[in-house]
Amino acid sequence: MGPRFHPLCHSATPRERPTLPEDKPVSQSFKTLDELDLSGKRVLLRADLNVPVADGKVTDATRIERLVPTIREIVKHDAKVILLSHFGRPKGKVDPEFSLEQVCAAIADATGHPVGFVATDWVDVSAAKQAIDEAPAGSVLVLENTRFHPGEEENDPELAKLMASLGDLYVNDAFSAAHRAHASTEGLAHLLPSAAGLAMQAELEALETGLGKPKKPVVAIVGGAKVSSKIDLLENLVTKVDGLVIGGGMANTFLFAMGYGVGKSLCEKDLADTARRILDKADKSGCAIILPVDAVVSWHFKANSPTRLYGVDSIDPDGMILDIGPQSIERINGAIDDAHTVVWNGPVGAFEMTPFDAGTVAIAKHVAKRTHDGHLVSVAGGGDTVGALAHADVKDKLTYVSTAGGAFLEWMEGKPLPGVQALKK
Ligand code: 3PG
Ligand code: MG
Repeated sequence: MGPRFHPLCHSATPRERPTLPEDKPVSQSFKTLDELDLSGKRVLLRADLNVPVADGKVTDATRIERLVPTIREIVKHDAKVILLSHFGRPKGKVDPEFSLEQVCAAIADATGHPVGFVATDWVDVSAAKQAIDEAPAGSVLVLENTRFHPGEEENDPELAKLMASLGDLYVNDAFSAAHRAHASTEGLAHLLPSAAGLAMQAELEALETGLGKPKKPVVAIVGGAKVSSKIDLLENLVTKVDGLVIGGGMANTFLFAMGYGVGKSLCEKDLADTARRILDKADKSGCAIILPVDAVVSWHFKANSPTRLYGVDSIDPDGMILDIGPQSIERINGAIDDAHTVVWNGPVGAFEMTPFDAGTVAIAKHVAKRTHDGHLVSVAGGGDTVGALAHADVKDKLTYVSTAGGAFLEWMEGKPLPGVQALKK
């Protein structure tokens, strides 16, 4: 099979986007905070306090910072904020290593408000109930890790009822946990008057402008190591976007599937058929696939190891592709110039090691510049993506950067998220 690099151009087969059943802003399809009568209420706020912690200190408080507007809004109404969240994966058992007590100081720092902590095993909640009742209006309390009870991940209706008994209203601000149908993310939403918090609302609105009703042409950039973890995502994207940039280790699988040698590079040879099926589907949908045309190759998977640039048709059989080359960067940036919307998940090279971060950084800076100049709506998220954008120093320069990992991927896959569905009107 010969190479099939379709340059993204406006002459790509025009396709009609299927019309959506309702042409309303996304915020009208789910309940929002302003629709709840907050005054004096006990508000169960599902947050994602699953933040990185080292030596008992939160090392990245982004998820906490995004909760601040919702917490302030609830406090303003003399209501009590009762934060519910999981933390890590304690597998249904009480385990001090996964106690949410260790994130309370970071919440107090971010909100400038004292934060109380209430321990519970989620079997007996009488102490929690008492603490909530006794707390003055405007208090912020964090309840212990919901995953200390096995019923959380089982979406056990009894546990959801127990949770509901602690509050009057339910607000969900945890988009990044919305792909889980758990008691505190799904079951509980059906038991109390409920709404999306301000962070959830902002996230859903940003995502809607990314893939729901985007300004076309839309280019998706998908990188990362493996095709196997992103098959559903690629299959969905090729039917929705005008151009799909494939980079990172997963591009090698596509190059291999197209008949190129990839040397000792990371490559899932058993997925060659899958890759060809995706290319075929893209072709039929009029989605231009943009794969690397040149690559930075090294012989050691190590920072600053010697490199050489190769065309993808002549990769050294002993070498490893660790980044895209300058011609590829130019093509990708050209595709970005043609786009009105970019959706991005995953780095296009081994960005944790210099000099293999160059491709990801160059593209990130270009996306940031086009966004800054008003030409582009850019939405990014998932796993390594935020780290890569932070490394490129553009984390705050895109239209929206999601702090979600798995939930962002499932959203890109076009799957309904149970935690969002439960908030639908
Ligand atoms: C995340 O960090 O991705 C969310 O908090 C979900 O965590 P989980 O993958 O353990 O469900
Ligand atoms: Mg996860």
